Amino acid sequence: MKNETILVVGGAGYIGSHMVKDLLETGHKVVILDDLSTGHRDLIPGGNFIEGGLGDAALLDRIFTSNRIDAVMHFAAFALVGESVEQPLKYYQNNVSATTELLSAMVRHDVKRFIFSSTAAVYGEPLEIPITENHPCNPTNPYGASKIAVERMLQDCDSAYGLRYISLRYFNASGAHESSQIGEKHQPETHLIPLILKVATNENKNVKIFGTDYPTPDGTCIRDYIHVSDLTQAHLLSLSALMEGGKSVVYNLGNSRGYSVREVIELARKMTGHRIPVVETDRRQGDPATLIASSDKIKRELGWKPQYEDLEKIIQTAWMWHQKEAK
Ligand code: UFG
Repeated sequence: MKNETILVVGGAGYIGSHMVKDLLETGHKVVILDDLSTGHRDLIPGGNFIEGGLGDAALLDRIFTSNRIDAVMHFAAFALVGESVEQPLKYYQNNVSATTELLSAMVRHDVKRFIFSSTAAVYGEPLEIPITENHPCNPTNPYGASKIAVERMLQDCDSAYGLRYISLRYFNASGAHESSQIGEKHQPETHLIPLILKVATNENKNVKIFGTDYPTPDGTCIRDYIHVSDLTQAHLLSLSALMEGGKSVVYNLGNSRGYSVREVIELARKMTGHRIPVVETDRRQGDPATLIASSDKIKRELGWKPQYEDLEKIIQTAWMWHQKEAK
């Protein structure tokens, strides 16, 4: 791996901070841009941190002028499905309009490689499982719509300006860095695994199960959980592909194996020794019953090999981090 300089936008967030750590450990120079609206300064593992927004054209010009950026990785999005339904313009403003500023700055400064954090939410209600990249994209919420809008914009930027991109459609990102130095930290927390573990550390009293009448074997939603370090490995492979002149492409990232909400809770009970009380409630708006990825394409084309296919390993890393955080 060469010593490229990477601009990581959103490097103080959950996935972005893991990316910064891996980039530094593989010998890259890293410039981090984050406005700390949802990120945390204490998650940034190193690199050159600049506090600011990705929609700030003057700041972007300064960054691209004072650093020779080889590629941009973009993690800075609002990513809560429910909030996006209530506040769609917040999502279009940050996820689409501000991203337009970032891409415009890249074009102005002739930076032609871009790795984009996309999502399974671009597909909407699945027509078939597992979901391949050829599945139609009919997002059912503004969050998914904002991500597919950027993917569309990227296609056009490729044709018009030769900007090469890899768009990675994550399924359920989870787990923490093996070192337990960084992990999943959201404020407020809405994701299943951290919420379960916050019961195990006695920060919360119980975990809610959103819906028990789904058309799944135990009535709860099935998701495909993927470890955050397997996501960052996929970014490193994508970076190499773009550096070697690879073309623009879209990949799914999941483990091709689904676990129901009840199965996740049961496994966490076994691993933490806590009885983790649950409260069964109504469905959460906009949740599809089952989301499972086919990730064959990135395995075949980039040789991606996940190291944490087993949900137990994923929860183990998250549990280590949560225990440390709770102290
Ligand atoms: N769930 C509960 N109780 C909770 C929290 C979640 O039962 O307290 C359930 C949800 O209903 C869902 C599953 O647990 O069935 C996982 O929920 P998360 O909130 O952890 O994750 P999502 O599947 O909703 O979201 C993920 C990503 C999004 C992405 C989405 C694609 O975090 O960015 O997948 O649908 F958009």
